[in-house]
Amino acid sequence: MAQSNDALWGGRFASGPDGALAALSKSTHFDWRLAQYDLKGTAAHLKALHAANYLSDEELSVLEKAVEELSKRVASGAFVPKADEEDVHAALERGLIEIAGAEIAGKVRAGRSRNDQIATLVRSFMLDAATEIENQLIGYLDALCSQAENHLGVAMPGRTHFQHAQPVLLSHHLLAHAWPQVRNLQRLENWRARTNYSPYGAGALAGNTLGLDPKLVAKELGFAGVTENSMDATSSRDLVAEFAFILSMISIDLSRFSEEIIAWATKEFSYIQLADQFSTGSSIMPQKKNPDIAELARGKAGRMIGNLSGLLATLKGLPLSYNRDLQEDKEPIFDSFDSLMLVLPAFTGMVATLTFNKERLEELAPQGFSLATDVAEWLVTQGVAFRDAHEITGELVRFCEVEGIELSMLSDEQLASVSKHLKPEVKKVLSVSGSIEARNGAGGTASSQVVEQLVQLRKIAPHGKS
Ligand code: ARG
Repeated sequence: MAQSNDALWGGRFASGPDGALAALSKSTHFDWRLAQYDLKGTAAHLKALHAANYLSDEELSVLEKAVEELSKRVASGAFVPKADEEDVHAALERGLIEIAGAEIAGKVRAGRSRNDQIATLVRSFMLDAATEIENQLIGYLDALCSQAENHLGVAMPGRTHFQHAQPVLLSHHLLAHAWPQVRNLQRLENWRARTNYSPYGAGALAGNTLGLDPKLVAKELGFAGVTENSMDATSSRDLVAEFAFILSMISIDLSRFSEEIIAWATKEFSYIQLADQFSTGSSIMPQKKNPDIAELARGKAGRMIGNLSGLLATLKGLPLSYNRDLQEDKEPIFDSFDSLMLVLPAFTGMVATLTFNKERLEELAPQGFSLATDVAEWLVTQGVAFRDAHEITGELVRFCEVEGIELSMLSDEQLASVSKHLKPEVKKVLSVSGSIEARNGAGGTASSQVVEQLVQLRKIAPHGKS
């Protein structure tokens, strides 16, 4: 493949680039996605050229109309890059020339570089993408909150080390998956504040000599301001890596819930049933109902971590300022964004339509000696030092294990046989609801605290967002 005649460079070369170079260099197959952002940048740049007297009123108007027309052609698919065009910028310059003529359109490239253009485009893309992710996340939070609201009061086994630990409310467990996503929303908001600065005007690396006003362009493009250093603006991609990190983290947090959903749907757990619309069958085993959404969400997390790691490796050791390595920033974030935009709607639908087997959860909640801490803490209220209380309760558990019974099944005599401190009154703490409601400090699993969480979460994710 040879380079197009409309290439953005070539004057200093006696011959065109080799086909192998052109093939390696080409980015239109992925950066075309940024075409509309590039056109918006051009529209803003026209205003800066006009303000600095490089375009007459008449030329400005001709070019503005040409950009508008080109934008329509791009949107309809009537204008596409040629097979041999290097990048989105080259293709769109050709488009502008086709519409406005080489004489006027040839003025547009003054005072800007593909280096400041692409840095701006990537930021614009990410800012819009972040809004879409935020909306999807809010929908997911709504689904979690609705399930939590609909199951208030249902107890389940809370686990540590994947073993029964203490009973918790199902709603408390579900909302434990909401808060990491709230933090991811906060991360996006915080990242946005850093990203919302325009690199346009930084030129290739050092700024422009033509007196074009970067602030004017930034304002036109809706940025909060202009980047402080043109070399940093064109060569840093930390904000791209940070965006890739936040998307990875969202997906890692989903993968943790995925893992539980996969376990909960097994015959052994039987905690949940997946809705037909959000589960899949097997081509050979007619009975199968598989949690593919959860598995794909878990799998995509790996892929997104790969995108982030690749990007970080690309950035490591890069000298200032722009290096062509930076062209490798786009595919990873496009892929992470696209992956997450596939995962989130499906995941939200799956969560919104989960059916919980309440009886099973309630029945399992006190099993595995999950009320042992309550016994130990009751002993503390009776004046026993916790160290001794822990020891006594441990013996009690061992006794139950030998007898093959649960703590709640102990008789007064059996209790007394283990320790004189184990009076019959200890039985009043051996209930799941007593255990749960006693944990009523801020952030605990008591229903009053779970309701409080819901009040806070509903401010972020009102009803009807999923
Ligand atoms: N396609 C490049 C990128 O994505 C932008 C063009 C800069 N090319 C150059 N030779 N200076 O980063």
